Amino acid sequence: MSLFETGLDCIVLNGTVVTAADIGRYDVGIKDGKIALLAPALALANVPASRVIDAEGAYVMPGGVDAHVHLAEPELFGKGRSVDDYTSGTRSAIAGGTTTIIAFAPQDKKDSSLLIALDDVHQKAVKNTYCDYSFHMIVSNPCQQVLDEFPVLRERGISSVKIYMTYEALQLRDRQILDVLLQARTHGVTTMVHAENGDMLSWMTEQLESRALLAPKYHVTSRPPILEREATNRAIALGQLVGAPILIVHVSSPQAANAIREAQTHGLPVFAETCPQYLFLTRSDLDQPGFEGAKCVCSPPPRDGPSDLEAIWKGLENGTFTILSSDHCAFLYDDAVHGKKSAISEDAPLGRFKYIPNGCPGVETRLPLVLSATRLRPQRFVELTSTNPAKLYGLYPQKGALIPGVSDADLVIWYPELEPFPVTNAALHHSADYTPFEGHRVCQWPRYTLLRGELVWDRDNGGIVGAKGVGQFVHRGRSAFCDEQPPWDVDQY
Ligand SMILES: *[C@@H]1O[C@H](CO)[C@@H](O)[C@H](O)[C@H]1NC(C)=O
Repeated sequence: MSLFETGLDCIVLNGTVVTAADIGRYDVGIKDGKIALLAPALALANVPASRVIDAEGAYVMPGGVDAHVHLAEPELFGKGRSVDDYTSGTRSAIAGGTTTIIAFAPQDKKDSSLLIALDDVHQKAVKNTYCDYSFHMIVSNPCQQVLDEFPVLRERGISSVKIYMTYEALQLRDRQILDVLLQARTHGVTTMVHAENGDMLSWMTEQLESRALLAPKYHVTSRPPILEREATNRAIALGQLVGAPILIVHVSSPQAANAIREAQTHGLPVFAETCPQYLFLTRSDLDQPGFEGAKCVCSPPPRDGPSDLEAIWKGLENGTFTILSSDHCAFLYDDAVHGKKSAISEDAPLGRFKYIPNGCPGVETRLPLVLSATRLRPQRFVELTSTNPAKLYGLYPQKGALIPGVSDADLVIWYPELEPFPVTNAALHHSADYTPFEGHRVCQWPRYTLLRGELVWDRDNGGIVGAKGVGQFVHRGRSAFCDEQPPWDVDQY
């Protein structure tokens, strides 16, 4: 029997369907949680379905894949404790059109296994999420046992690790980075790198502290672009030595973007991510009266001005950046124990920047902010925010695509048009008490979000309509961007 006789579970009629490759007027048919078919506009108008969504004049896109989300992480440095857990973080995700997140499983430096941390995040997430999820493994102690566990990670559906070139609790030495990169290459694992030079950073911080320059804005001064550029160049060189693909996360400065572009021009498998904070925020957002600037403290920091933002937009348009993620890492502002205000003390009433928990919320605002800016072609927007993260991290084409019979029916459906309105924290669904994008004007917001064919977000009728616990762990394969290569051998040098 054809689908036309048995009926469909859901039909999205007459929308402007956008994928990474195409844009056009189609109907989308959904059956058993999968995309069943795409048909010419209104061809499905008379097909029976349990649910029909009229998307006339609106974009219909594969659900967002946010590959950089910090949830429920332990206090690894300082007193900051993330306020979003797997429930509130994924609730915020679906309200912003994101149907899959990749969060982090942070290894404790004292552990000589990765699997403790992996079991721990599974426990935190299972039955608690509103959207689908996976984890990147943060490797902070790459001892032999840990390196030997890489094949186990793959068996368990984890195909990416993240390493840090800064932060005492996480920072690896270059030789440790090489160990990770070689093992990652061998086992089809993608390595994400936080590229800031940790020693330059602590040295700069000491200089500022000794001159009593402590306010939030000095967070930017403590991490000039050269520190990001140096670490980016070094990460590229380390990857090149062992022929391993790398992804530089949250690139903020034109200098680092240029270094990445140059490596790509030489054919190196160097990928890059940027985030909305580097498209919309600048140093002046940290230079606010009192302690307010702490709200925008994240690392790397927002850069100096419009020409920096412009260079990052340019890199999104011209292919330098592969993906656009949120780096959602939410702390309460008004919390003196685990929030931003834990950096305030009696002798430093405006806080000490070095103690301000690093991070901003953004999983919900990522898609609407960037789509509203209308800088990117719709197809490129989908590619950067859904298709490429799915490909890069081994989720494609289950996620990030609309391939009949293959792709999950994860969709974000926008409005035909909206009067521009300001983002307000009151309208968001995370647990943070602020958004760094308060007052930024948008003209797009997800109207509906579907997860595997089920309506989970209906902005005008109930808001969050999905249930906590419907989200599933997604088993990931190897990156579609990282080809198998012959084994590396020292002899080649
Ligand atoms: C693309 O953007 C990157 C990052 O801003 C920049 O380094 C590069 O010069 C740009 N390339 C072209 C061809 O415009």
